[in-house]
Amino acid sequence: MTTKALMNTYGDRAAKLVKGEGVWLWDDEGNKYLDALSGIAVCGLGHSHQAIGEAITSQSDTLVHCSNFFSVPNQELLAEKLCDISGMETVFFGNSGAEANEAAIKIARLFGQKKGLKLPTVLVMDNAFHGRTLATISASGGRRVQAGFEPLVSGFARGPFDDIAALQKIADNNANICAVFVEPIQGEGGIRVPSANYLKELREFCDSRDWLLMLDEVQTGNGRTGRYFCYQHSDIIPDVVTTSKGLGNGVPIGACLASGQAAHLMQPGNHGSTFGGNPLACAAALATIESIEHENLLAKATSIGERVISGFKRELCDVSHVREIRGLGCMIGIELDRPCKELFSAAMEQGLIINVTADSVIRLLPPMIFSDDDVDMLISTLVPLIKNIELNK
Ligand SMILES: Cc1ncc(COP(=O)(O)O)c(C=O)c1O
Repeated sequence: MTTKALMNTYGDRAAKLVKGEGVWLWDDEGNKYLDALSGIAVCGLGHSHQAIGEAITSQSDTLVHCSNFFSVPNQELLAEKLCDISGMETVFFGNSGAEANEAAIKIARLFGQKKGLKLPTVLVMDNAFHGRTLATISASGGRRVQAGFEPLVSGFARGPFDDIAALQKIADNNANICAVFVEPIQGEGGIRVPSANYLKELREFCDSRDWLLMLDEVQTGNGRTGRYFCYQHSDIIPDVVTTSKGLGNGVPIGACLASGQAAHLMQPGNHGSTFGGNPLACAAALATIESIEHENLLAKATSIGERVISGFKRELCDVSHVREIRGLGCMIGIELDRPCKELFSAAMEQGLIINVTADSVIRLLPPMIFSDDDVDMLISTLVPLIKNIELNK
């Protein structure tokens, strides 16, 4: 039972998790679970990672927080490291994905105002998910996250994902659009992977209109798809990219990176955050990035993803209610032809943590340290549950 003292934003919680180590989690009754969700794409390096634990401990012994009135050495190091990795030029740090996205939306508005637009508008996608603040629910595509919170924030236009021709038509009818904001792979929307040249074409399209290309890599970033950022599969540089989730491997931190025309729009007084980029969060993120490099986890994410996808394809090829198995690196979706929310509890009973999103898509976001045995256990546990759904309905 969850205490009544908490607002009921998450409904009934599944179990009381009290300990994590590597790919494993334990509840308060001693039950052990294989974690194929990583705290929703957060703990990419697994739980209780030694280097991150040491970085947090040593930083907390030294200085947890000061404020952004002062220069924070870890923040500067992290900004430089992220720019090095990404090809971007400047970074703003917040504490979450939604905050990183708020910064991106504000940058788009500054850009639009500078161009003389009265109502700078950001083009966002059907089925997008960008967070739970007012601006980010307004940018998100599902009515489910918006309902009850009207009036929404204005300044967004919407088009279909992975359809440049449709965006052309929208552009021709709306002179206020100055930026496109898109997830390189839609996560909450059901692990929707666009066509291979989508980002490249989107980049060209934005250039032709003098729009900013802004990418939400809150879920796809930090190595999850086999590159540090997912756009690095496409040989482009966006104007703005946001990330969070896996950046601190569980310590809250978000980042909005900008380049080119977008890099220096923010000026003193435009934006800020009390906690954003504090010494502790940045120490965790620096250790996370170092460990990703050290443990060669980008290549590992790719090979885990290939083994997961090929394994499920092999085992489920003749199951008629499986529509599609897709993904990139450690971001995998198995779409069924029916709602399958109950698979979450069924998997928990078998000692496995997964997620179901968009009603009918099993979402797998394993840590980038899954061994071959872990992958095989994931497949052998989940396949019978997926097959049984057919028998039950
Ligand atoms: C693509 C994307 N953007 C933004 C968010 C919001 O991040 P946060 O919950 O840290 O605010 C999420 C969270 O699931 C996400 O997947």
